[in-house]
Amino acid sequence: MRRLTLGFVAAAMGAAGMVAMSQGPAVAQAAADLPTLIAEGQTLYGRQCAPCHGATGGGGAGPALDGNSFMASISAVLNQIFLGNAERGMPMFTRLTDREVAAIANYIRNSMGNAYPDLVTVEAAAATRPTE
Ligand code: HEC
Repeated sequence: MRRLTLGFVAAAMGAAGMVAMSQGPAVAQAAADLPTLIAEGQTLYGRQCAPCHGATGGGGAGPALDGNSFMASISAVLNQIFLGNAERGMPMFTRLTDREVAAIANYIRNSMGNAYPDLVTVEAAAATRPTE
């Protein structure tokens, strides 16, 4: 009886192990916590945003983002990234993924003199993405 039970547990654990292995590293999602998203956002900012807003947020063709209270509003930041402002010269960034937009939002809200550590989730970005 005791042996049977242990055998069953071992078999169940083995099956779980195989499921875990079959998912493989390629499928595993990186964590979407604040430090991870900020790190991803820093790289993306350098490519997508720095040409107009400056590598350290000092501004250029676009306004300065350093110490900018605009960052206080998660929805304002997400909308600005997705929609831009065609009349004033900021392009839309709908080609970026929800995760990329969330990463950039977390980065600009927590760098360059801004400190708004409440997480901008990937789900919030998805919910803000314009439908057309
Ligand atoms: C081609 C230049 C350009 C690029 C690239 C660009 N922006 Fe902008 N950005 C602007 C301009 C111009 C404005 C001012 C438009 C407005 O008032 O809405 C602006 C406004 C903003 C604002 C609002 C700031 C405020 O005080 O009103 C934020 C936030 C912002 N951009 C973030 C970003 C992020 C993040 C990226 C990269 C994903 C980015 N921008 C890429 C030109 C750019």
